[in-house]
Formats: sequence, structure tokens, C-alpha cells
Amino acid sequence: MKGIILAAGAGSRLYPLTLVASKQLQPVYDKPMVYYPLTTLIEGGIREFCLISTPQDLPRYRQLLGDGSRLGLRIEYREQAKPEGIAQAFLIADSFVGRDPVTLILGDNIFYGGDSFQKAFTEFEGGATIFGYHVNDPERYGVVEFDEHGLAISIEEKPKQPRSNYAVPGLYIYDNEVLAITKALKPSPRGELEITDVNVEYLRRGKMRVCRLARGFAWLDAGTSSSLHEASAYVQTIEKRQGIKVGCPEEAVCRRGFLNVEQLENLVNGLPRCEYRDYLTGVVEEARRLSQR
Ligand code: G1P
Repeated sequence: MKGIILAAGAGSRLYPLTLVASKQLQPVYDKPMVYYPLTTLIEGGIREFCLISTPQDLPRYRQLLGDGSRLGLRIEYREQAKPEGIAQAFLIADSFVGRDPVTLILGDNIFYGGDSFQKAFTEFEGGATIFGYHVNDPERYGVVEFDEHGLAISIEEKPKQPRSNYAVPGLYIYDNEVLAITKALKPSPRGELEITDVNVEYLRRGKMRVCRLARGFAWLDAGTSSSLHEASAYVQTIEKRQGIKVGCPEEAVCRRGFLNVEQLENLVNGLPRCEYRDYLTGVVEEARRLSQR
């Protein structure tokens, strides 16, 4: 399974924060926003990534994540020159995806809790898997409607009159057919290749699975100053209470076995003295203790 992280867009709702750094580089409590979706996909077992951003912002992401080898990953970078839709990511990353299945995650989507994604990755056999999350303001999102058996029957992009409260979060798992489906798409009236149109096509083919995310699962939005602040407060609350970090890729690659303990320790030794380093030192010590049992 390959992973695409889409971190494009102007971030105009966060102006003036986004004048010099893109939205997905803004801090969410103690780390850059893009660390959260990256960690979500690492936890799902993905090691090969394509990060898509604007020509202006791409150098910053390279500076932040490099070629991924430091984390036992492979990260490539591609440009989205104009905001022509989420589904365009598949055209941009076509040669990266090759013949593999692919997961797309939006760089401003922050998820926390439960094992729904891990389960979905493990159970994925083809077609598409997306998710449904109960929200208060479904009209802002892709909205999925279920029948009485819990099967998805419609998906609409930002409907004025939503047929349910279930929004579709920005994590989509597809088989390789997604490339052909996207190539056949026409831009929507707002001039974008819509991810919802891809999902509608899978639904029409009877190959769409929609998993409802349970209560207790957090999907946070960080697209406005106030929701960015709330996301930071949420992460801070969890981290302070539990003493574990949310969205820490270094920890995730170690837990997944993409880096062994020695490799993580070397990485940690290269970090400046800070709270993040202290935390990772704890992760190394714990991994050592467990391996000595
Ligand atoms: C996009 C998608 C929408 C999805 C949302 C999740 O909306 O078009 O279907 O529910 O991401 O974050 P946008 O962020 O472009 O408003």
C-alpha cells in the first residue's frame, strides 16, 4: 500500500498565519500539523509516501521530512501547481502509485483513538474503503447516507440539505482502479476534480465500503484559527493526561518496526535538547526494557 499526503491549498482561512508557511506546517500544539496524518499512515503500516504541495511550499516539506530515510521511510515530493481538486492527487502521483493500492490522506486531518483505521487496512481486499464520522455540521463535508442495514447508499459533496450527519473524513483507501477512475473524471462546476466523484463511482460499481467511526474517536479540523487552537488544546490535554504523544512519527516507525531501537536511539541522539527528545528517549528505554524480557 502506497500513501499520498496532500498538503496543498492556499490556507486562506488561516491568513495571515499562512502568509509565509503553509497550513499543514502550522503548529498543532507541539509539532507541525503534517506530522499527524503522516503518523496515522505509518500506524497503518505504510512506508512509501508521496507528499504533494504547492511549488512555493514544497521546499519546506523537504526540509522537514527529507527523503524519509531518517525514519525508515521513503518520501517523494510532487507539485500541485493549482488548486484543481483533491482527486488530482492521483494524476500527479500516478507514476509513484504504479500498480499498487493507495491511501490518500489530507494533510490537515487529525485523527486520534481506536483501531478503526488499522482494521480497515488489514481487512482491505480491493475496491474502496472510506469512513463516516458523525458531525454537527455535515454540510461542510462529503456526506454519506446509510440504509437501515448500515450500507452506504449515497455520497454527496457539501450538500445544502445533508441526508445524514455522517461526514467523510480525509482518509481514503483505494485499489489501483482509482487511477483509471480519476483519469475519466470531469472537473466539477467549481473547476476541481472532486474526491466525492471518485467515491460515487466506487459506490456505483458496488465496490465501496464505508466504515462508521465509533464514538470516542476524534477527527479534528484545523482549518480555521479557532479550530486550530482547539486541536492544539485537545492534543495538549491528551498528552498531559496520558504522558504519550499524539502524532509522533519517530515513535510510530519504531513501534511498526520500520526502525529498530538502535536506529531510533541514533536519531534521538541527533535531536536538540528539548521535551520532544526527552519523550523519545523514554520510548527508546521502554523498547529496550521490552526487548530484554
Ligand atoms: C474535502 C472533501 C470533503 C471531505 C473533507 C474532509 O473538503 O471535498 O468531501 O469531507 O475534505 O476534510 P475541503 O477540505 O476541500 O472543504
